[in-house]
Amino acid sequence: MEKKSSNIMWHNTTVSKEDRRELNKHSSCVVWFTGLSGAGKSTLATEVEKRLHQQSIRTYVLDGDNIRHGLNNNLGFSPEDRKENIRRIGEVAKLFVDAGIFVMTAFISPYRKDRLTVRSLLETDEFIEVYVKCSLDECEKRDPKGLYSKARAGQIPEFTGISAPYEEPLQAEITIETDKHTLDESADIIIDYLKQNKYIN
Ligand code: PPS
Repeated sequence: MEKKSSNIMWHNTTVSKEDRRELNKHSSCVVWFTGLSGAGKSTLATEVEKRLHQQSIRTYVLDGDNIRHGLNNNLGFSPEDRKENIRRIGEVAKLFVDAGIFVMTAFISPYRKDRLTVRSLLETDEFIEVYVKCSLDECEKRDPKGLYSKARAGQIPEFTGISAPYEEPLQAEITIETDKHTLDESADIIIDYLKQNKYIN
């Protein structure tokens, strides 16, 4: 999107990200869940948040449907709108990381380029991409919101997987196959990754 502001200067704060992390007694990062509608992104993000919260870690979940009710309620599902959706979420997620919080994001985020843009906003170790992998067949069978049947009936244009693309991650830090693992096992995989890579104890 074209930049419309000029004559603006960055204002530094006295309390830094490191200070906030020290106070919280833990690091902060974005766990970015990407995958088809119905793959299990929100369910998994919520379960991981619950587990982290139980360990006294400060967390927040940013979720596609919720954010589109507020911050991004002027955006649809064209490639340009999805790009802007993800750009804004990336900026918000970065603020959470700066605030010293573990942020879980659950967005289809179908374009590799857009996910890469978010990755490049953050330090290397602050962005963990989790591919919530599930076959289109299985997502359609689950169809928790009845959206796939509407999309097949031509009632939802540009529906991901049906009439709009989903570009699979090529180098996600974690891939979870939700048609092969239970919710508990899937959350275990993520928590183990966070422990092994010293994000949490
Ligand atoms: S994106 O692609 O990242 O900008 O999408 P996101 O913000 O995650 O929003 C996806 C949720 O919006 C609902 N929905 C659609 N999804 C895909 N394509 C179309 N056309 C569409 N229209 C509405 C749907 O409930 C998605 O939620 P999830 O949780 O992924 O099922």
